[in-house]
Formats: sequence, structure tokens, C-alpha cells
Amino acid sequence: MENSEDFISTVSHELRTPLTSIRGFAQTMLNSWDKLDDESKKKFLKIIEDQSNRLINLIENMLSVSKLQSSSSNFVYVQANLRLLIEPVIAVIKNAYPNHNFIFNYNEKTPDIIVDRDKFQQIMTNLIENAAKYSDENTNINIDVIPAGDFVSIKVTDKGIGILPENYNKIFTKFSRIDNPLTRKVQGSGLGLYITKNLIDKMGGRISVMSGNGQTTFEVLMPVKNVEEQARERCSQ
Ligand SMILES: Nc1ncnc2c1ncn2[C@@H]1O[C@H](COP(=O)(O)OP(=O)(O)O)[C@@H](O)[C@H]1O
Ligand SMILES: [Mg+2]
Repeated sequence: MENSEDFISTVSHELRTPLTSIRGFAQTMLNSWDKLDDESKKKFLKIIEDQSNRLINLIENMLSVSKLQSSSSNFVYVQANLRLLIEPVIAVIKNAYPNHNFIFNYNEKTPDIIVDRDKFQQIMTNLIENAAKYSDENTNINIDVIPAGDFVSIKVTDKGIGILPENYNKIFTKFSRIDNPLTRKVQGSGLGLYITKNLIDKMGGRISVMSGNGQTTFEVLMPVKNVEEQARERCSQ
């Protein structure tokens, strides 16, 4: 989907769905406050919270697309510990997908990396959210972090619907969603992986996907040194 009409219709659908649900549940609560028990109120507020989180991720992704296109993306590189970066991301997604089992395996020998924190967390949010979205409740989602030479390897593995090899490249392009009964059921813009790959590339990393035998793994390799440092070293050699 490349033309602007498709873009506008996708975007408006994507924005309208969570907003309609937020407004609907807020109105119900306001109009029927005295008739609702605490349990229902809590349930409605949870939906409002989940849908708001969805909107925030969506808007962040949309803003990222326009920033990627304007090329002068500003990355703020800092030294960061991957456990401290990834744990809060898992906590937020766990909140929206409480019935999945998130298993975080962090190898203590993993060196810190130099990344833009927000952008790295956006990458992890997109990958872990996909893993939950495209797999059933009560299945495992593994997040494994290990050192890999000059890189660190971050793997996100789910036991969901899987991806056919002929779609490995397509899913990283703008607005691409693979048509199947589940992707029709869950909402998405098809922007997440496009942005994810772009951000990883810009920070000097790589992403790949492998799917088969009932599991799907996205592996991100992030350099221990950042792209600017690498460039400086290449110049001085
Ligand atoms: N973990 C996964 N398992 C199966 N399919 C996936 C997974 N992650 C992504 N996909 C496929 O790749 C498509 C693109 O993903 P993404 O860019 O994040 O868009 P969205 O999640 O908004 O649809 C998804 O629509 C889905 O078809
Ligand atoms: Mg996604």
C-alpha cells in the first residue's frame, strides 16, 4: 500500500477503532455509574487503558514513519543495560496480554550497548507485542539476550501462527500485513516491523526472522559500539 488514499483510510480506521471504544466505555461509565458494580467499572477502565496504550504505540509508530522519511532522525546515544531496557517493556505488554507467559532470559555476561533508549524500547515493544498478538493465550513468549562477539543477540520467540518464508521480506515493508484469519481478527497498521527494521538499521544493527516447527523467532543483533563510534574507527584505520 503506497498511495496516500490507502494511507489515509488505513490511518483513520486504525485511529478510529480504539478511540470509538474509549469513548464508548467512558460514556457507559458516566451514564450508568450508579448501576455498575466495581468489577464492571474496573473492567471498563482496563479496556480504556489498553486502548489508550494501543493508540500511543500507533501514534508513535506513525510519527516515526514521517521522521524516518525526513531522514534527519535524531538519535540520542547512551550506554544502556539490556535487562534494564527490556524488563519495563515486557511489564507493559504483560499488562495488555496477561494470559501469555513471558519468559525473560538475560545472560549476565551480556555487555552494555550504546543505543537510543526510546528507539530501542520502541523496537522491543513492536517485536514483543507482535509475538503476543500473533499467538494464543497461555503460550510461551521467550525473550533471550546473549552476547554475540561485537554484537548482542536479542531473540523474541513465540509459538503462534508463524510466517511463511516467502513473506520474510514482505513483512518488513510499509503497511504490509499477511492475510490470514488471525491477522484479520487482530488489529494492526502493518507499520511496526517497517519502523523496527529502519530503526535497527540506523543504529547499526540487523534483524532477521525464522519461522517453522511451531515457532517464530525474530533476532535482533545490536552492535556493542554505536554507529558513530564505528564510523570514527573506520576513518582512523
Ligand atoms: N510474531 C509474528 N508471528 C506471525 N506473524 C507475524 C509476527 N510478527 C509479525 N507478523 C506478520 O507481519 C505483519 C507485519 O507486522 P507489523 O509490521 O508489526 O504490523 P501489524 O502488527 O500492525 O500488522 C503482521 O501483520 C503479521 O502478518
Ligand atoms: Mg505489529
